[in-house]
Amino acid sequence: MATQTLPELGSLEPNQHGYREFTLGKFTFNRDGYFAHIAWPKGTHMIPADAFLRAMQRDVAWGFFYGIVNFDAVVGTVNHYGNVDLYAGRFNEHYRKAGRDYSENFPAELITRVFQAILEDWTNAAFDPFAAPQETGSAFGPKNGSNKEAITRHRVTAKRMIGAPGDEPTRSDESGFPINRAFTDVPQDAPDVMAEPGFEGEVVSFNLFAYLSRSDVTWNPSVVSVCKASLYCPTTEEYILPVIHGNDRVEWFVQLSDEIQWEVEDRDTGALRARVTMRAGDVAAMPADIRHRGFSPKRSMLLVWENASPDLPALYASGKMPPAPVQF
Ligand code: PHB
Ligand code: FE
Repeated sequence: MATQTLPELGSLEPNQHGYREFTLGKFTFNRDGYFAHIAWPKGTHMIPADAFLRAMQRDVAWGFFYGIVNFDAVVGTVNHYGNVDLYAGRFNEHYRKAGRDYSENFPAELITRVFQAILEDWTNAAFDPFAAPQETGSAFGPKNGSNKEAITRHRVTAKRMIGAPGDEPTRSDESGFPINRAFTDVPQDAPDVMAEPGFEGEVVSFNLFAYLSRSDVTWNPSVVSVCKASLYCPTTEEYILPVIHGNDRVEWFVQLSDEIQWEVEDRDTGALRARVTMRAGDVAAMPADIRHRGFSPKRSMLLVWENASPDLPALYASGKMPPAPVQF
């Protein structure tokens, strides 16, 4: 369908705070000065507007990511890679026991369009959902402009590697990526490449620390190198991961600088399983049956190593693969 002929996604008239209401199946989304209000046939829920927009921004930008994106302990999405469940209370033992949980499935394109429309209408001019709290203005108050540039940022997804011919470029002052205030001590030198004659166009190298020191976003893994299903997805982190990610495969973390603490819970009930403190040089494998949220007191660099093989979710779900790569 051409854009002009799409059915209206949200209410035509804004509410008293200036924001439009949106409907998706039996879910409704509303916002006021401080909160997003989500309603479904068996309940209602409130999420602070800044947290809601940060979570929804990532869900949209990541195409619903691997497995589950919990906005908080109640609301979120399950990616079935082509279609998506929107749920309330489904991964919360207490909502389930009380029979208040609810889930609806949508084609990925439909839920993407509605989420994009909500993001666009509810994000005020001063607020950047990808930015660290100290590097953005307020998300709160009555509707005040929009910030389309921030919410439609290019997502870095290298085909082979940053800096390879025809691939994603490295970052510089000139390309609009100054060094972040937390990383002024990071060396900016580039590796010397000395290729054998005849291979000059095929040997590529770049300074990953320098690249990350120039990231303008937080909690947003970008694909910097690809080898078959092996994706290196480093990211810079500050404050709190805006989603609680429920895994459908093992993820490896390599802490490249500073410190992140991870709260690790059972993926299905939310019961606390572990608190993991990762300092520079630490490596962890996050199991396939957990959910996790990171806390980074200072901007830090994290390498998330993903295995994008489409076979993995079924292998873990059927028990053919153990949920952790090492059994102690
Ligand atoms: C994760 O869920 O594994 C994750 C997501 C975003 C990040 C880091 C880790 O920035
Ligand atoms: Fe994760």
